[in-house]
Amino acid sequence: MKTYDEIKKIEVVAGSPFYIFNEKEFVNNFDNITKAFGSRYEKFVIGYSFKTNYIPYMCNIIRKKGGFAEVVSRMEYDLALKIGFDPKNIIFNGPMKHYEDIELALDNQSIVNLDCFPEIDHVSKYAAANPDKSIEVGIRVNMNLSDDSGASRVHGDIKIGRFGFSTEESQMVRLLESLPDNVKVISLHGHTTSIDRSTWCYKTIAQTLCDIAVKHWPDTIRYINIGGGIYGYIPPEFRFAETPSFDDYAADVAKVLNNDQWAVKQKPFLVLEPGISMASNALSFITKVISVKAVRGKTFVTVDGSAFNTKPTFHSYNMPHYIIKQADTDQTAVYNVVGSTCMEKDVMLTEVTNKKLERDDYIQFDNVGAYTNVFTPPFINVAPAIVVADGSDYKLIRNRQKAEDVFKDYLFEG
Ligand SMILES: Cc1ncc(COP(=O)(O)O)c(C=O)c1O
Repeated sequence: MKTYDEIKKIEVVAGSPFYIFNEKEFVNNFDNITKAFGSRYEKFVIGYSFKTNYIPYMCNIIRKKGGFAEVVSRMEYDLALKIGFDPKNIIFNGPMKHYEDIELALDNQSIVNLDCFPEIDHVSKYAAANPDKSIEVGIRVNMNLSDDSGASRVHGDIKIGRFGFSTEESQMVRLLESLPDNVKVISLHGHTTSIDRSTWCYKTIAQTLCDIAVKHWPDTIRYINIGGGIYGYIPPEFRFAETPSFDDYAADVAKVLNNDQWAVKQKPFLVLEPGISMASNALSFITKVISVKAVRGKTFVTVDGSAFNTKPTFHSYNMPHYIIKQADTDQTAVYNVVGSTCMEKDVMLTEVTNKKLERDDYIQFDNVGAYTNVFTPPFINVAPAIVVADGSDYKLIRNRQKAEDVFKDYLFEG
């Protein structure tokens, strides 16, 4: 936790509120995932999920450590190139790839996991334009993730996911018939967001992908990609039942690959696309108290940040937080911390008991690294700065946004 004076010092360069990138946590997550999986299955690759948090400084760490970039749009693909990823180490997923995107990615020999038949049409067009080229693509597989009782483990109430090609026989036959002769399938991708992120789901995904590889592309598949979604560090505030560790996931998935005859012979790369488990605990958010207000028995602490910065999905958990006071006190109070937007639902903390707050005190929110700054448009206020520790000093890795940047692409004349 930072001291009041440290925060004041950062505020001079970053403005308030601001994020702090915790580089050590991010690197630890990468190393711990790599150790868990890599010690059990030799050919293991992390494809870091850019959408979870694509701060270039973070992505560059992944590049330097030999990880791949997992991108889901042309915007993210271009970012990965700009950061300097070897294009062969970019995995291009997502449900919307135009012909020009696929053309560029195939020219670059990136791993393109196709999602739908119109994308196969794009590949066919590319194959016709490049008849002498051996073209390599991947296939996103949409599988039935149901347990022994027949209950779907797909996220939420969705039950049937929408991404990729269904494993149903008729669709697989159509897929096989649609692929031109000079196109080889080298990657199978099975990301499926599940209700419980259990090791069972990852075991099932890995086995299903191996089974499809054996059946349809036994000699060409080089990547078995089980997607992202694994649990990482969970703050005690979330009061979850015990969640699987990186070792638990790795042990179950490696067992599949080390026992599957095809995988033992073919030795495909095992790809994991972690997002939350890499980024969550890698960012903290510091916000300053603007006012403390009593309204009919309820206390509202308004800060210059917003729930849009700490939990844009507006879930009901109170995020882990610390009070940093200008003048420390033993006095406590019960309060609600509310954000600087004009929305009633902009509630960052509900009915917490902590040190009594006053104007110009700070609150540090932890575990805000996943789906936060990338998820939030500049709603009402400009996007905050992001800093990283640089020795005893702090370096800006994103400037505080300027209002003129927000408005620069609008037409102002009537
Ligand atoms: C294809 C793909 N890979 C990886 C991820 C990262 O998932 P998480 O952030 O839950 O680890 C997602 C998230 O939805 C995804 O869609």
